[in-house]
Amino acid sequence: MTESAPARVFADRTEACRVLAAEVAELVRSINDAGRPAVLGLATGRTPLPFYAELIRLHRAGDLSFANVISFNLDEYLGLPDGHVESYRAFMQRELFDHVDILPENVHIPDGSVNDISAHCAAYEKAIRDAGGIDFQLLGIGRTGHIGFNEPGSARDSRTRQVHLDPITREDAAPAFGGLEHVPTHAISMGCGTILEARKIALLAWGDAKAAIVKEALTGAITDQVSASFLQEHPDATFYLDAEAGSEL
Ligand code: PGA
Repeated sequence: MTESAPARVFADRTEACRVLAAEVAELVRSINDAGRPAVLGLATGRTPLPFYAELIRLHRAGDLSFANVISFNLDEYLGLPDGHVESYRAFMQRELFDHVDILPENVHIPDGSVNDISAHCAAYEKAIRDAGGIDFQLLGIGRTGHIGFNEPGSARDSRTRQVHLDPITREDAAPAFGGLEHVPTHAISMGCGTILEARKIALLAWGDAKAAIVKEALTGAITDQVSASFLQEHPDATFYLDAEAGSEL
């Protein structure tokens, strides 16, 4: 029998992020103390913003250094002009990397402007392997149940590849892009198989709009129609929720 992934429900997102950031800082320190770089898988979107704010606060307080951290982001839009404000590269610089001591050469984000996408995806997988695999993976969840941009139909063993964005995902992104017609149709995303190989995983979700999909991911069938449901089978995946996102559990 499969045990469902654990869910930790907090009063609010600030408290959830304070707890998780302290745990991640401790993980980074213990891996660094063991003499190797910590490998973090990072996410974009509205959800991780308070988590990144807390990591920056810990860094400024002298409690967390990224000098010995290697990062891999989950995904990137295809076809945006270089430096576009909604690109995930720009997001990560603005919300985290510009404020901490991570070395630019240790940052990895899929490049949405490459010509040979499949070669780029294979190289991304190799870079993760060469770094020793991901120690900690941060995730959000889309209304489609996606993790990364693994939309319904993404196989359990899928790897980093070009993906087609679900209409619901594009609709959710439309306000930020100033209209649906400006939202990219495709992206590069780590696969479900790539994500599930991370040694430790935290999925964050806030607000009423995520309550139903959180419940389905945690307690529903394990299916490629809800890629977050694969986390039920991961040995160390935890959902960090605010009261609203956890309200249907
Ligand atoms: P959001 O997106 O954080 O902007 O809600 C989450 C996701 O699509 O994974």
